[in-house]
Amino acid sequence: MSLPVDPALVAAAAALGADEARARHAAIAAEIRAANHSYYVDDNPTLSDAAYDALFRELVALEAAFPALTTPESPTQRVGTGATPDESSPFAEVRHERPMLSLGNAFGEDELRAFDARVRRGLSLPPAPEAAPELRYVAELKIDGLAISLRYRDGRLARGATRGDGTTGEDVTANLRTIVAIPDRLAEPATIEARGEVFMPKAEFARINAEREEAGLALYANPRNSGAGSLRQIDPAVTAGRRLSFWAYQLHEEPLPGAAPVADQSGALARLAALGFPVNPNHRAGLDIDGVIAFLEEWRERRHGLEYETDGVVVKVDRFDQQARLGMVARAPRWAIAYKFPPEQVETILEDIVPYVGRTGTLTPVAHLRPAKVAGSTVARATLHNLDEVRRKDLRIGDHVVLQKAGDVIPEVVRPLPERRTGAERIFEMPERCPVCATPIVRDEGAVRHYCPNPACPARVAQEYAHFAGRGGMDIEGAGWAVLEQLLQRGMVRSRGDFFRLGVTDLESLDRFARRSAENLAAAIERARCRPLARILNALGIPQVGEQTAIDVSTWLAGRV
Ligand code: IVH
Repeated sequence: MSLPVDPALVAAAAALGADEARARHAAIAAEIRAANHSYYVDDNPTLSDAAYDALFRELVALEAAFPALTTPESPTQRVGTGATPDESSPFAEVRHERPMLSLGNAFGEDELRAFDARVRRGLSLPPAPEAAPELRYVAELKIDGLAISLRYRDGRLARGATRGDGTTGEDVTANLRTIVAIPDRLAEPATIEARGEVFMPKAEFARINAEREEAGLALYANPRNSGAGSLRQIDPAVTAGRRLSFWAYQLHEEPLPGAAPVADQSGALARLAALGFPVNPNHRAGLDIDGVIAFLEEWRERRHGLEYETDGVVVKVDRFDQQARLGMVARAPRWAIAYKFPPEQVETILEDIVPYVGRTGTLTPVAHLRPAKVAGSTVARATLHNLDEVRRKDLRIGDHVVLQKAGDVIPEVVRPLPERRTGAERIFEMPERCPVCATPIVRDEGAVRHYCPNPACPARVAQEYAHFAGRGGMDIEGAGWAVLEQLLQRGMVRSRGDFFRLGVTDLESLDRFARRSAENLAAAIERARCRPLARILNALGIPQVGEQTAIDVSTWLAGRV
C-alpha cells in the first residue's frame, strides 16, 4: 500500500523536532508491525482499515519530512505486508518468480483524479480535462480475500502459493486443490501463472462465525480473515469443508512462437476465462477517469447484494506497454490503484439487551436495535458476544449507538454516543436464572462465558436440533426454525434418529405444508442419510468435538479400517 504523500501531514511532521519525529516514527512503525502480524499471521486484525491507513499515512509523511527515517526496515519499504513464512509455519516456502505487489489506496474522487493526473504525467499525456484517448482504464471489483499465485505446467495445476511478504509465500497447493472454482486442468496445455483472489462467500462466513461463537472460539473479523484461516489449515479436509471460491485477475503467459501476445488487462481477463478460470463478470474496460468514477458510484450500493465481499474497486491502466512505462514504486505499481469504499455506519437506538441461550447453554447478550438500514439490509439485532464486551464498550440500554457491519456482513454495535445520554439509560446485567428454564446461571472461574448448565433446557435442546439439521451438520435443506419448532412441539421428533422416520404423510400435517413441500423435505432427509462420518460427528454436538476434531477422528478411523 504505497500512499500518496499528504502535504498537510508532512507540514505537521516537519514542525516536529528531529528527536520527536524519530520517536514518533519508531512508535508508529512498531504499531504497524504489530497490526500486520495480527492481520496476516493471526488472521485477527486489531486495527480498522481506516486506523491502519491513518498510521501509514503519518509514517509516510514523517519520512517525507525527515528522509533519514526511511530505513530499509521501515514498514513503508516492504513489498507486501503479508505473512512471511517462519519456523512455526507448516508450509514450504515458495519464492515468487515476479513479486506479488500490493496496491496504493485512494479514498475519494479527488484521490482518483490525482492518480489519473500522475498516470498522464508518467505517460507524457496532456493533463485533464484534455482528452487522452490512448489511455484507457479497466475497473474491477476489489475482492476481499487472499491473493494467491497458481502455476500450471502443460495445462495442469502444478503449484499454488499465498502472497506472503510479496517475495516469498507459502505452498498451499493441497488446500487449493480442494477449491472447486480453481481448475485442475486448463482448456489447453498452456504453461502459465495465474493470480487471483481466494475468498469466502458471505453466507459461509456468517455460518462459520456463528459456529465459532457458540463454541466459544475467537470470531473471524471478516470473510478475508476466515478465508485466510481456512486456506492455511494443515488438513486439506478442513479447507474442503469451508466453501471457498476464487476469481482470477492476472495472467503471465509466454506467447507461443508466432502467436500474438496478450497486450492488455482486458485481453488477459478474456484469456483467463478462455483457459477455464472464473473471472468476475463485474468489470468494465475502455474507461476514462470519469467512467471509472461512474463505475464505482454504480457499485457503492449494489455491492451489498453480491454473495461475496468487495471492499472497493481496483483501477488498472489497460495497456501492458503503458503499465511497463509507468513501472512501480517501492511496494506497488504506478499503473493501478485501489479505491476503497468507506464502511457505512449509521446511528440507531439500543432498545434492549436480551440474553439468548445457545446450543451449549452459552448466554449471549443480543442487542435489540431500532431497525436501521446499513450496508444493504435492515438490521434489528446484533450479537454483543458476552458481558465483558458489553462492559468494555460501555453499552447501556437506551443508548444511541453507532452501527456497522463487520466485514460488511455481520452487524456490529461499534460504540455508544455518551453525549446523547439523558440519564434514563440502564446498565445491563446477566440474569441470575436461565430465561428459558430458570436454572441458576453459571460462570466458571476466570471464563468470559455465562451459561445455563441444564442439558434439558428447552432452548438448548431446540438449538441442538437446529445444529444437527443445519449446514455444518446433516444439512437437511428446508428444516429451518419454523419447521423444527413444530416437529419438537408436536413430539414428532424426540431424538435425532426420529428425523429419519418422518415420511411425506407426517410432514404434510405441518402448518403451511403441502404435498410438494412435504416431498421436498422428505427428499432432503433422504439425502442427509449419506453425509460423511466427520459431518455426522460434528452434527451430534458432542462437547469439545467441533468441525476439526470430527475430521481428525474420522480420518483416524479411516486409517484403521
Ligand atoms: S491486482 C499489482 N485486482 O488487493 C496488482 N488485486 O490491495 C495487484 N485484490 O494483493 C493485484 N481484487 O489481494 C488486483 N481485481 C483485483 C483485486 C485485487 C482484490 C487484492 C489483491 C492485492 C490487494 C492489494
